[in-house]
Amino acid sequence: METTLVLVKPDGVQRGAIGNIISRFEAKGLQIVGLKLLKPARELLEKHYEVHKERPFFGSLLGFMSSGPVVALAARGEGAIGVVRNLVGATNGAEAAPGTIRGDLGMSKSFNLVHASDGADTAAFELDLWFGEGTVDYGLDNLRWVNDPEA
Ligand code: CMP
Repeated sequence: METTLVLVKPDGVQRGAIGNIISRFEAKGLQIVGLKLLKPARELLEKHYEVHKERPFFGSLLGFMSSGPVVALAARGEGAIGVVRNLVGATNGAEAAPGTIRGDLGMSKSFNLVHASDGADTAAFELDLWFGEGTVDYGLDNLRWVNDPEA
């Protein structure tokens, strides 16, 4: 089982796409084990995007991400990190495959609706940052109809 962090960015919230986006993770068979709406502090965003701090878009990225509330969610499942990245699609919505969140809803690289952890180390780091209080662990009966019993 893996757990990964997803953010619905300010453009996703402003466009009324929170439900659309979260429903895709639920429909896929991932379990939501953390969920909150918050206006992230600049300090939190600086830590979250530290890896991009030398990039030319770092300032505008932080400005955009602190412009309004975001939804943070923790999603759990078999191979959840890769599964979520596939559902999210390529960074640039104009190029992302149809059927993905960015491919269906996005047209740009900066306003790309969602963030998702890109690996196991990143997921652990980002979950600690956004859900330092921990996730909510509970049984979900329908998962026995989702995961391969032979695997
Ligand atoms: P995200 O998955 O949140 O990770 C880093 C973010 O930086 C990325 O999504 C985009 O929103 C943003 N980003 C990446 N490349 C560019 C770019 N060339 N110009 C503007 N923003 C970018």
